[in-house]
Amino acid sequence: MDITFLLNGETVTLTQVKPTMTLLEWLREHRGLTGTKEGCNEGDCGACSVTVQDQDGLHALNACILFLPQLQGKAVRTVEGFAAQDGTLHPVQEAMITHHGSQCGFCTPGFVASLVAAHSNGARDFDDQLAGNLCRCTGYAPIIRAAEDAAEAPVPEWLTDALPSAVEEPEREPLQPESSDALARLYAQMPEATLVAGATDVGLWVTKSLRDLHPVIFLNRCADLRDVKVTGKEITLGAMVTMRKMRDVMAPLHPSYGEMLRRFASTQIRNAATIGGNIANGSPIGDNAPALIALGATLHLRKGEETRALPLEDFFIAYGKQDRAPGEFVEKLVIPRQADRLKVYKLSKRFDQDISAVLGAFNITVKRSKVSAARIAFGGMAGVPKRAAAVEAALIGQPWNEETIANAWKAWQQDFEPLSDMRASARYRLDAARNMLTRYFLEDLGAETSVLAVRP
Ligand SMILES: Cc1cc2nc3c(=O)[nH]c(=O)nc-3n(C[C@H](O)[C@H](O)[C@H](O)COP(=O)(O)OP(=O)(O)OC[C@H]3O[C@@H](n4cnc5c(N)ncnc54)[C@H](O)[C@@H]3O)c2cc1C
Ligand code: FES
Ligand code: FES
Repeated sequence: MDITFLLNGETVTLTQVKPTMTLLEWLREHRGLTGTKEGCNEGDCGACSVTVQDQDGLHALNACILFLPQLQGKAVRTVEGFAAQDGTLHPVQEAMITHHGSQCGFCTPGFVASLVAAHSNGARDFDDQLAGNLCRCTGYAPIIRAAEDAAEAPVPEWLTDALPSAVEEPEREPLQPESSDALARLYAQMPEATLVAGATDVGLWVTKSLRDLHPVIFLNRCADLRDVKVTGKEITLGAMVTMRKMRDVMAPLHPSYGEMLRRFASTQIRNAATIGGNIANGSPIGDNAPALIALGATLHLRKGEETRALPLEDFFIAYGKQDRAPGEFVEKLVIPRQADRLKVYKLSKRFDQDISAVLGAFNITVKRSKVSAARIAFGGMAGVPKRAAAVEAALIGQPWNEETIANAWKAWQQDFEPLSDMRASARYRLDAARNMLTRYFLEDLGAETSVLAVRP
């Protein structure tokens, strides 16, 4: 595979690259740029963070789970490329020194990359911006002080010079289709291929499971799969819409969904992970599926020229089994517009950057003090993301009061028989799910239930 991109302002063209070579491996083993560090090699620690500029702006990504073909036509900067050529440091680097933001220094290149991206975007929510960067020895206070100190400084002009438009296009690559039509033709011919979207799952198959993937089809150049359309009737999200973009779209319409996405992995992962990948992987603990099911979303699949649509909940057949034929891919999701009654509750051992133990999504409509409609869906409670059909039935038509919630108690056991695993026991999961309905009810009455809301 041939690839062209900018690295620290210089054009790099690579020929016959192994498609699943990661940027981190290439930087350290083939380019001698060892400033970018390898910590976990699975997207968790941020030591490998770099900045990547594309048509959507400049963002931090984890180089350890970023395959080289995903960089086609983009501009990458590593810690070696944040200072000017005359040695003038980036304001973030200056501030890290002034505020003693580094001790052993192992995590520092990754923190600097995340902060350079935050600085470029004018972001001030530094706790969230750095949720994907771990530091074992300095402690976060000096790093946050450095971020705050650098915030007002202008973005250095040497960073804005590196525009992807400066990149020359190589010859058209057959395994990097440039539209959903081209993808449909290619995948129908090669149904055995592995599709790579953001690679936040697939990347680990290579770095952790040491799988030799062949052939692979990269979706990152299918521009139309990144489309977002919001009308008075529906919200349409292309399969390649990232979690970052999705948060921007959903937060104003369904704030609780936006808040859940704030806690989806980390900034770096959200910049890569796509909605198509999060659904297609069929995970019983993927965070989007329950929320989308509660909103009544429709999944649109395509194989060659044939397309079909199904309610999202019907896509998940059993653990590891989805309603998707060989050569068929996720094209888009469509969510009906509606009054916002959605609450999404994510329970995980850590607040940030953690997979859910249980995720409950509640969309309950109350008219004249009675429940007129209810869509409730859970992740982490079964082998698939699943609707709470018996609980919904126990609520619909009943008065919206504590007695109705209590009467629904038994229905939970009809809907779910959760497992115990390292994230939570079966008992905890069932109790937590039941309590979430009480929480929804109390919030509806105006009670503050979020730990963030009651914090001094
Ligand atoms: C550190 C870390 C933290 C994470 N935290 C969370 C979290 O908080 N919540 C959560 O839900 N997930 C989390 N994940 C999992 C992962 O980020 C998500 O599942 C993500 O949305 C996957 O999307 P992707 O674009 O990276 O998919 P990829 O890795 O590219 O692909 C995933 C799977 O989907 C297939 N696929 C991709 N696109 C399509 C398509 N359009 N049609 C058909 N098949 C397709 C691929 O072939 C593959 O089988 C985390 C992962 C990491 C590494
Ligand atoms: S090495 Fe830990 S996130 Fe990449
Ligand atoms: S400075 Fe040592 S791990 Fe952060």
